[in-house]
Formats: sequence, structure tokens, C-alpha cells
Amino acid sequence: MKDKVWQDRFSKSLDPRVHALNRSLTFDNWLGPYDVQVSIVWSQALRRCEVIDDEELEKIIQGLEGIGEELEEGEFEFLESDEDIHMAIERRLAERIGKPADKLHHGRSRNDQVATDLRLFVMDHSDQIQQALRAVIKVLAELAAEYVDTPFPGHTHLQQAQVVSLGHLLLAHAWSLKSDAELLSAVASSSSSCPLGAAALGGSAAAVDREWIAKELGFTKASENSVEAVTSRDFVLDMLYGLSRLGVHLSRLAEDFILWNSQEFGFIVLDDSVATGSSLLAHKKNPDVFELARGKCGRLVGNHAGFLTTMKGLPLGYNKDFQEDKEPLFDSVDTVLQILPALEAALGGVTFQTDTISQALSPLLKAERIVQYLTERSVPFREAYGAAGRLVKEAENQGILLEKLPIEAYRKVSNVFMKDIQHILAEGWQIPGDGVLGGSHVKSVQRQIKAVNAWLEGR
Ligand code: ARG
Repeated sequence: MKDKVWQDRFSKSLDPRVHALNRSLTFDNWLGPYDVQVSIVWSQALRRCEVIDDEELEKIIQGLEGIGEELEEGEFEFLESDEDIHMAIERRLAERIGKPADKLHHGRSRNDQVATDLRLFVMDHSDQIQQALRAVIKVLAELAAEYVDTPFPGHTHLQQAQVVSLGHLLLAHAWSLKSDAELLSAVASSSSSCPLGAAALGGSAAAVDREWIAKELGFTKASENSVEAVTSRDFVLDMLYGLSRLGVHLSRLAEDFILWNSQEFGFIVLDDSVATGSSLLAHKKNPDVFELARGKCGRLVGNHAGFLTTMKGLPLGYNKDFQEDKEPLFDSVDTVLQILPALEAALGGVTFQTDTISQALSPLLKAERIVQYLTERSVPFREAYGAAGRLVKEAENQGILLEKLPIEAYRKVSNVFMKDIQHILAEGWQIPGDGVLGGSHVKSVQRQIKAVNAWLEGR
């Protein structure tokens, strides 16, 4: 067995220090199953253009299927001398079936091979991540339905700004995640162009039917330009961007729940099965899932930024720099597939403390109701806004609630005020049942839940 396939052209064997740097087998075995699938279809394409005969095809396919099983069972023995997953599989095929294995690489290169494997990986994992995301969105929609008319402080500048439905806030996160799922689906579609048959860069010497190959492998089409086919890593960049944007959304969702879980807020209680304790402080109950979902955003963004930088200024054609696509891609996929199920569990373990939430609503939020009272009675908005501001200042000066200000104070500011203003303000917090499309009112939240559920069910 030759140490390296190119040994005949070289008079020295490779310096082990160079081999150590060059080798991608420590991380590219994620591609094993795709590489086997791609090689099976390639061998069939070679049969169709009569580069190999039926007997050779049968041996190659049997050999590759056996290798697929070895990989799946964890029985495949990698050798220190294997440079990457492609060479390891080629070496193993020769061990298993002998001579016919030497024909498999006819008319193809690792350049089109790795680009094809990697596109399949992206398409497949885009689907897996979308499924995991859907499960998280489902829990958010269920929570939203539970708290459809729960008044909640909506913040701007992290200052209480408006009373909104808690369901509405939870759905804001759901919509962002839905948009990430749609982005990942678009990434899968744009990845669906098959490079196999581009060979090193100029197109295969074998008269293979590239459209047939593309279809067999589940791509929508064969790539149009062999150079672009081997030199583009746009699909990796798109996936890394999609996952980093998802990471940003998850970190923001996580931050809300971490804040709400603090003693200062006390808005949620986490089920014991999804919280963690402290090794020192006996009373602690920590929201580790949310903190890790927030923290892992760093590596997702870093993986995208890092590989985007690797791609800068590379000349056309395959460059070994491309090998740097794998670790960030696999890491981001792996990371997201770890976060999402844990987050699904953690969100399922959240109970909102509606009394605490209600007590936390700032009485000053009622200023909005004062403005509404006046504008309903034809007072121009700016005037109403000014009147409400003066009343807030007065209530603050006197150290009392807005509804406790005497009616004289109201009438001093505007003679439109009648006694009913105090009753209206003294009423408890309520989410209105009607309002503008997409607003925080109950009907809007119900409509959103319906829309999200329809999307989840593929309607
Ligand atoms: N392990 C390599 C990679 O990941 C496979 C392609 C190698 N191609 C080459 N011309 N050396 O990019």
C-alpha cells in the first residue's frame, strides 16, 4: 500500500510536521456518510458512461455500503497516514475490494467531491435545525396561548413603556425564530446545486451525466460552471450567517428569561428539572440553559466572522484554505443542535408569576390611558400628551398614584376631565380586546397564535 497516492511523483515522503497540519481527518469525519453516498452515485455515473463494467460497479457499491456500515457502527479504523475522510474511504475501499477501487476516482477530484459532500451536509442539517427550531417555536406559541391576556410591562430603553400582552412578547421571539427557520430553508435551497463532475476545476474527463448525478443525490440542479463549483463556499458562509443570526436571536430570548428569573424581577419560576444548583451557595437555582444559549452566541458569530475572513482575497479554483470551512461549520451546527432541544425543555419548564408581574407594572404607565381619555374626547394628541405629563409630575411631587390625584388637579390641567377619569384609572390592568393589526391586544395575539400554528403544521 502506498503511503500517499501521489507517491510516484515525489522522491521523499511527507514530513510528519507537514502531515499534521495538512490532515483534516480529526474533524472531517462528519462527512463520512455523505462521501459514501456521493461515491456510490459517482460509480453509477461511471457505469452509465461505461468507464466501469457491471461487475466492478457491484463490487464498488458493496464495498462502499460496507464502509458506510463501519462508519455508522464506529468500527471504521482510521490510520495515522489517512489525510482526510475522502482518502481514508478510498484506502479502505481498496482494502475491501482490491483492484476495482482504483477506478472510482476516474474523472473526479477531491475538489468537487468535498464541495458536494459539504453541500449535502448543509442541506441535511438545515432541515434538522429547522425541525429543532420548530419545536422551540411550538413551546413559545403554547406559552403565548396560556398568557394571551396577561398584562405585562413592555420596555423600551429597559424602562417600562407600555402595558402589553405577555403572549404578544413571547410571540415576538417566536416570529424572529420563524424567520431564522425560513432563512435556513433558503440556505438549503441555494446550496442545492451539485458540483460533482467539475473535477479539479475544468470539468470531468469522464462523459458523466451531471444532471442525472445531481438528481440522484437530491440536488435541484447541476452547477453551471466547474470553476465556480469548486471555488465557492457561499453555501457555508450563508449557513454560518444563518446560524449566527439565530444565535443572536436566541441570546436575546435567553436574556429576557434570565432577567425575569432574577430575584429583582421574580417574573418566572423554572422547573427543577431545567434549573441548576450551585456547588457553594445552597439557596441558588440558576438558569444555566438560558445563560449557555446566550453565551454560545459568541462562537456562532465568531465562526461566521472567522471563515468569512478566510475567504477574503482567495484566487479562483480550489485552495487548501477551504479546508478551514469545516471546523466552524460543524461547530456551529453542533452547537445549535445542542442549544435548541435544551431550550425547548427549559421553556416548557417556565411558569410565569402573574401576581408579581401585575404588581411590577409601574403606576405611571397609566399616563397612556390619560392621553387616550383626552384624545377620545377630541383633544389634539400633543395637547393631551402635555396634560398627561403635567399630571405625572404632579403625582410624583405629591408622592401619590395618578388615580389618587384630586379631580381639581385634573381639571386644572384640562377641563375636559370628568370625575370618571379616577375610576377609569383605578381599574386593574387590562389588555384591550381590540386594536390595530399586529398590536398587543387579545385578538391580535390569538390571530398570531393561529398563524404560527398553521406554519408549524405546514399550512
Ligand atoms: N480535505 C480537503 C478539504 O477539506 C479535501 C480537498 C483536498 N483537495 C486538494 N486538492 N488537496 O478541502
